[in-house]
Amino acid sequence: MERIAAVDDIPSEGLRFSYRDGPFDEEGILLHLPGGAVRAYKNECRHLPMKLDEREPKEIWDEDRRHLICSSHGARYRPADGLCVSGPCEGSHLRTLPISVRDGVVYLDTSQIGGFFKV
Ligand code: FES
Repeated sequence: MERIAAVDDIPSEGLRFSYRDGPFDEEGILLHLPGGAVRAYKNECRHLPMKLDEREPKEIWDEDRRHLICSSHGARYRPADGLCVSGPCEGSHLRTLPISVRDGVVYLDTSQIGGFFKV
């Protein structure tokens, strides 16, 4: 387990962090949702292997901040479970990253995805 951040330090727009998945450096997004839930997803759309915020503006939220949105073709994802609710990959899910929360701190289970990350 590797510490990512304190829950209280996660900004409302989300916290990006890097991790190693096998030989690849990847990016994750850590979210602290209204109501207190914490989620972490790989920053990669399920339509094509592109970051959600690949294109300008580098924003992962839609206008009303109800869904995560892919800047390439507009797929919208439910933040609570990563389900794509509209767009070309509707019905698929963002890749959930293995985290746990202890004493207000979020940890990444690097034994499941590789051994290295940085915020
Ligand atoms: S790459 Fe995300 S909707 Fe097409």
